[in-house]
Amino acid sequence: MAGCKTKTICFTNNKGGSGKSTTCANLAFELTSAGKKVLLIDGDKTETITQETVTDKSVPESITGKITEEPAGEPMTEDLLNLEGFKVNSEGVIEGYENLDLIPSSTLMSQIEYELFTMIQREYVLKKCLRSIYEKELYDYVLIDAPPTLGTWVINILCAADYVIVPVEASPWGLFGLANMFDFLNGISEMTEAKIMGVLITKVDERKNYYKQTREILAGYDNINVFETFIHVDTSVEWAQDNSVPVSVYKKSTRSAKEFQQLAREVMDYGSR
Ligand SMILES: Nc1ncnc2c1ncn2[C@@H]1O[C@H](COP(=O)(O)OP(=O)(O)OP(=O)(O)O)[C@@H](O)[C@H]1O
Ligand SMILES: [Mg+2]
Repeated sequence: MAGCKTKTICFTNNKGGSGKSTTCANLAFELTSAGKKVLLIDGDKTETITQETVTDKSVPESITGKITEEPAGEPMTEDLLNLEGFKVNSEGVIEGYENLDLIPSSTLMSQIEYELFTMIQREYVLKKCLRSIYEKELYDYVLIDAPPTLGTWVINILCAADYVIVPVEASPWGLFGLANMFDFLNGISEMTEAKIMGVLITKVDERKNYYKQTREILAGYDNINVFETFIHVDTSVEWAQDNSVPVSVYKKSTRSAKEFQQLAREVMDYGSR
């Protein structure tokens, strides 16, 4: 948000399974490892990040729960960070992860498009909810995971963000719909100041040739940064998710752990180049 030290980054791609949630959660952890204070927001009704981050699943509230119950637009930060049911300390930090807070998702998310429909200034509901977090400058980074859709909720996420990271899978269909997404972002450019920080190529398999092909096609887009870092396909990513831990915690020496660390450095350097 302008004039604020907190950088808000969202992860969008309407193509499902492109690595949004995986990147969002692992990048959040790596930024905290680099000494940053991070708020992770699970904005997807499938609760991928919530399920993968928190082993105690009895989570009573979520950001979307709050939005659907209290659409008045008042700042709700205190409530949002009161994550009773999580293993959290008095400051709302999830036990075991220093400097990383989480606002979880919930099944209430499935109603979000319907709920937003009748709200005044419906594109800015999330931004208003987060205002007091920004005012207090509690975080260096807020990372928001978005669902694979392009509806009003995703517009909310984009309106709350300063930057967008677009993960794309290095596969024959990985870039499918990407042009559509860029058009969508252009179409809402008057509503949001969010700019594309970069496209991140994920799930790269050395045995196949799709990485090179993907990078070549992306080079054809004007003014779109493609991260130097890319993420190889790595079974450790899935094992880590199965154990509800970031890949670095699961096994620090794995290739993907190092790649997410490198991505964190690229993200932190962004803007200082
Ligand atoms: N580098 C990787 N190596 C191996 N598997 C991966 C890797 N990245 C992601 N995956 C797997 O690919 C699947 C999709 O990843 P992820 O959930 O991050 O994508 P997504 O874009 O958030 O999906 P959705 O659009 O459904 O929200 C998951 O099962 C995840 O475990
Ligand atoms: Mg996801």
